This record gives sequence, structure tokens and C-alpha cells, in this order.
Amino acid sequence: MKIRPYETKDNDTLNRLKLQAFESGMERMRLDFWHWQFEQNPAGKGSGSVAVEGDEIVGFLGFVPKRIKIGERIVVGAQILDLMVDPKMRGRQLGTFLAQRTNMQIQESGASFTFGLPNKNSYRLLTHERVGLRTIFSPSVWVKPLRSFSILTLVRRYRLPAIATRIGTGCLALLSSCFRPPHVPTGVTMEEVEGIDDRFEHLWRIASQAHPVLFVRDAEYLRWRYLLHPVYKYRILCVSERGRIVGFLMVYERLFEGMRIGQLVDWLVDPALPQANAWLLRAAQNWAHAAGLDALIAAALPTMSIAHAFRRMGYFPVPKRFEPITTNLIVLSFDNTLDRYFQSPARWFWTWGDSDVV
Ligand SMILES: CC(C)(COP(=O)(O)OP(=O)(O)OC[C@H]1O[C@@H](n2cnc3c(N)ncnc32)[C@H](O)[C@@H]1OP(=O)(O)O)[C@@H](O)C(=O)NCCC(=O)NCCS
Repeated sequence: MKIRPYETKDNDTLNRLKLQAFESGMERMRLDFWHWQFEQNPAGKGSGSVAVEGDEIVGFLGFVPKRIKIGERIVVGAQILDLMVDPKMRGRQLGTFLAQRTNMQIQESGASFTFGLPNKNSYRLLTHERVGLRTIFSPSVWVKPLRSFSILTLVRRYRLPAIATRIGTGCLALLSSCFRPPHVPTGVTMEEVEGIDDRFEHLWRIASQAHPVLFVRDAEYLRWRYLLHPVYKYRILCVSERGRIVGFLMVYERLFEGMRIGQLVDWLVDPALPQANAWLLRAAQNWAHAAGLDALIAAALPTMSIAHAFRRMGYFPVPKRFEPITTNLIVLSFDNTLDRYFQSPARWFWTWGDSDVV
């Protein structure tokens, strides 16, 4: 068994291994997705470790650089992704070994820390003391059931007592529809836009000042992340005041258990106008109604200003055991001046857009 650095020519084989290893996210298992993620990333090229047995690739752990604002600095972290081991090689500590080797590779690359958003298969492995990442936070998931929300699929999925669930979620949808959308003052416009221009850069400059820790969302990053994404087609909803963008929201539609869900992926608002959070949620609701969606879904930390808008707009926090996607941000720092930020989740701004699977 040999572990060697990842090379671009591995993509085809790794893509096949990925199709074998994972049970979801098949739509992303395409060569243009690898190219977008590892080559086109504005923060720099991706890398990783490949395990080879004979001349067969049997394991992989990749990482891509990601810029983050921490305190007054912009530093580069490395996001680990796609840890996978060939089914016939599992249970022999190969995943652990790949993670240890990749940590060393990341540290040598000069990144200040490594982080990941592991699924249930790799959480224990990556947070084991042998590997060393630890959990910083686990955001809450919020759902807003819309008019056409159906609970029948949820009953099947979670084997809940049908009548109780029918009554419960029926009440939720009804209750949720009682929340009045916020008043949007004259002079504020809500629109969907096709491009990302300098107004987004301006918003990033202002908004980033207000958040002690957040991944960079400048115009260059947003174009790569949302316009150039080879698989998902995001919609960009904006609120503007006198021609100036005061908030944006990236949304897209996905199927979940037979329901059409609008997923709120990323957003940013002018910190001087926190009410723009509610205006964005109203724009999302208009979009979802026009598209006939069943529900809207989002994830956020309780300390983020949008959490207040979720409550006011009839979003319900999903109990942990029913969360369709459980997210844990795990981190290993190589720069002890950053540790105090990793010890205080309340300082973080985070959205699903910061993950690699949405
Ligand atoms: C997750 C995966 C990479 C683990 O590889 P592996 O070589 O079998 O892992 P290891 O032998 O190093 O196991 C290390 C630890 O993780 C645990 N673990 C391994 N697979 C697990 C799983 N599917 N679920 C929960 N824990 C798991 C092991 O129990 C072990 O803990 P222990 O030493 O305390 O018993 C492999 O199962 C895989 O490729 N899964 C499918 C792809 C996937 O989901 N990847 C995660 C992407 S975020």
C-alpha cells in the first residue's frame, strides 16, 4: 500500500470510486465538478492524498483552500472533502491513515487550519484524537412549510404515527401561514438577478466588518461558487435600497423525499439594516409560492441575525433527530493565534454555502 499526493489525472478513477463509495450526491460525481472544485477555485488549487494498492486507487481524501476572515485578517484554511475508501478495504484504519497524512500535507501547504463538514460515516474517524479535528458548532435547521406541504413522505421516512404527524404538521403549515410577511418600505426593491457585479463586492466589504469570523464572500468567490457551479442552478435574490444592494440570498430547488424544497443556501446583509434579513425571506417566499414549492429550508447558528427573522416569519426549528442534513463544523488549527475564534461559535457567521455538498 502506498499513499501519494493527488494528481489531476486521478479524477476519472476517483470519480468512479466516489460513485461506489457514496450513497447520495450522485449528481455531483462528474468530471466537470472535479475540475470546478479543484482547479477553478479562486482561493487556489485543491490537493489531497491517494491510497494505491498495486496499481489500483483504493482511497482518497481531498482538500481545497478557502479564504476566511478571522478578526482583522484574511487567512487560508483547507476544507477536507470526499474521504472515501474502497468497500473491500474498509475497517483497516486506511481512512484514519489518509486523514493523518492529509493533515500533514495541509500543514506543509501553509494553511492556518483544516476544517470539514463530515457525514455520519466519517465524523467519529475525523474527531478521534488520532486525527485531531474537533467540533466547533452544529447549526440548527429551520423549515417553513408552505401551502402544498405534504407530510405523507415524512411519515414513511420516520415511521411516525400517521395520525399524530398529520395533525401536527397540518397545524404547523396552518400556523406558519398565519405569520404575516414583513412590510417592505417604499424605496426598497426585491428582484432576482442573473449576474454578480461590483455592488456585491461593496456589500461584502461593509458586511465583513461586522462579523468576527466568516468565509470570504467577495464578488470573485460568489461568481465561482454560484454562477460557475457545474451542477446546481442557483437563483440570486437581492434587496436594494436606492440602487444599492443591501442583501442577497442564494436559493435553489431540490427534491427531498418526494417533496420540492427551496433550500436557502447563502446570504449576506448590510449590518446597518438587519431588517433586510426578513425582506430576503419574503423574497424567498414569493419565489417559492410562484414555483409551487412544498417548503423552505435553511440552517443557521442561533446567534446569527437571520435566526430572529426565521422566528418572525413562521420557520420552525427541526428537532436534531429529524434533521434531514446534520451538519457539524470540525476544525484542527495550526495557528494558535486563531484558537480563541475556534472556541467561540457565537462569533461565527456560517451558511450551507460554506459546505461542499449544497
Ligand atoms: C468513512 C470511511 C472513509 C471510513 O474508512 P475506513 O478505512 O473503513 O475507516 P477506519 O478503518 O480508519 O475507521 C476509523 C474509525 O471510524 C469508524 N468508522 C468507519 N466507518 C464508519 C461508518 N461507516 N460509520 C461510522 N463510523 C465508522 C470506525 O469504527 C473506526 O473507529 P474505531 O477505530 O474507534 O473503531 C469509509 O467507510 C467510506 O469510504 N465510506 C463511504 C464514503 C463516506 O461516507 N465518506 C465520508 C465523507 S465525509
